[in-house]
Amino acid sequence: MTTLDPRPESLPQRVAESIQRDKPFSEDERDRMKAVMNSLLLHIHASKVPARSLKFTYTFGLGGLSLLLIMMLIVTGIMLMFVYTPSPDSAYTDMLALQSTVAFGQLIRNLHHWSGNLLLVVVFLHMLRVFYTGAFRHPREFNWVIGVGLLLLVVMANFTGYLLPWDQLAYWAVTVGTSLLDYVPVVGEQISLLILGGPEVSGATLRNFYGLHLAIVPMMILMIVSVHIFRVRRDVGTVPRNLDEEPLKRLEKVTTLPHLVSREAVFAIVMIGLILLWSTWVNAPLEEAANPDHSPNPAKAAWYFMGLQELLLHFHPFFAAIVIPALALGGLMMLPYLRTDMDTEGVWFRSRMGRKLAWIGFFTGLIATPLLVLLDEYVVNLPDLLPSLPTIISNGWVPLAGILLLLILYAGMLKRVFHAASCEVRQSVFTLLLTGFIVLTIIGIAFRGEGMALMWPWEV
Ligand code: HEM
Ligand code: HEM
Repeated sequence: MTTLDPRPESLPQRVAESIQRDKPFSEDERDRMKAVMNSLLLHIHASKVPARSLKFTYTFGLGGLSLLLIMMLIVTGIMLMFVYTPSPDSAYTDMLALQSTVAFGQLIRNLHHWSGNLLLVVVFLHMLRVFYTGAFRHPREFNWVIGVGLLLLVVMANFTGYLLPWDQLAYWAVTVGTSLLDYVPVVGEQISLLILGGPEVSGATLRNFYGLHLAIVPMMILMIVSVHIFRVRRDVGTVPRNLDEEPLKRLEKVTTLPHLVSREAVFAIVMIGLILLWSTWVNAPLEEAANPDHSPNPAKAAWYFMGLQELLLHFHPFFAAIVIPALALGGLMMLPYLRTDMDTEGVWFRSRMGRKLAWIGFFTGLIATPLLVLLDEYVVNLPDLLPSLPTIISNGWVPLAGILLLLILYAGMLKRVFHAASCEVRQSVFTLLLTGFIVLTIIGIAFRGEGMALMWPWEV
């Protein structure tokens, strides 16, 4: 029997019947459908949220935007799969086909390219918003660590995607990027051989990157994002407040539906519109086909690795590629576990003093980083000054110890002069290092030309 039961029991059957009858839904049917939708949403959100956590300038919607971009990447990525073949003979011609013969091919590629790059920026900004509003405090420490893992995965997704167009940009950026692995002690060479599928970037690398890019990395992102969102819900989102004076229970609450969900929907629609508009006007870059025999000068890494490439010009490679990134990552993961003396949560920059010290950190990083780069480039050459020492010491341990000492002096000075709390001093040091990293990345991208020599952006 395929005809519908006159009094169907289940809601889907009744909905199907209602559509077949071309009759509006009854009051009861509407209520039940609403209940299904609500309980779906209430898996992600609590039924009520504190009114003040809805303020846009608190989160800037950055976590939600990251989720939206991931969904857009999956949809556009699957569309690209229909056209793209991961082989050196066809990858580049597939890109040309996307630009010319495939209907909406250029737009889909642009959407995927810009969403991927934007995701990296948005996830990074989301991390900064969590840090600067102190939203990593207990009980969210572990979710912060999960977040750092997500940031690394998003970098990996972008990096493995970078090679796929198989043009000169892709080939040489991945050659430079993967050469960093050679500096990993003991296992570096083996890992490099495994990932590249041989001694250099080749068809085997393209196939490996394709597998990583389409299956392994997105699957890991999806799994870990699910845990991340589950923890956000379970740990109860941070609410901007003074911890001593405003207990959570006393704050005014509003229902998630419609207050939060309607805002999320409007934000998502506006963002999709803006990304579509941008992708209609600005094409993803494509250079000539990859040529392993002709290296461009300078051969630069992907933009998000330019800070590291710049460090390589100043430190012994083992320090630039391994020790400093490992210290930075370790420090980032440990941040929420350090003793905290904050008396606010969810408040941007913690306090008035916190904001002032963050500005000081910013300006110190902005001035000190270019000065140190110029000093190292034109004035001081540590290996020449300390010829009796191996370069791993003279150009590794020595400058690193010098910088750490300067940071300790900086933190001590802030504490003494401003009588600041530890969390405010820590925030200032974080801002200084963050600004330093961004300045190094900008120098690498815009101020390095032929032979990686320093020059003005218009000469590069
Ligand atoms: C976080 C997730 C992802 C990120 C950040 C990302 C990023 C990228 C980037 C930056 C490119 C190079 C685009 C270009 O310049 O042409 C790319 C290419 C590609 N991606 Fe993804 N992607 C993601 C997920 C996916 C998924 C889930 C799929 C498929 C199921 C996919 C399929 C592809 C394909 C087929 C290409 C080659 C075509 C092309 O380069 O336009 N991607 N991806
Ligand atoms: C793919 C990457 C990511 C996605 C999709 C994502 C998604 C989200 C969403 C939707 C929220 C709740 C809304 C909001 O606060 O904006 C959130 C909160 C949070 N995220 Fe992420 N996130 C990602 C990466 C990160 C990173 C890199 C970190 C830090 C290293 C991080 C740490 C946190 C923490 C601690 C919270 C709780 C904040 C609070 O309670 O106010 N997340 N995330």
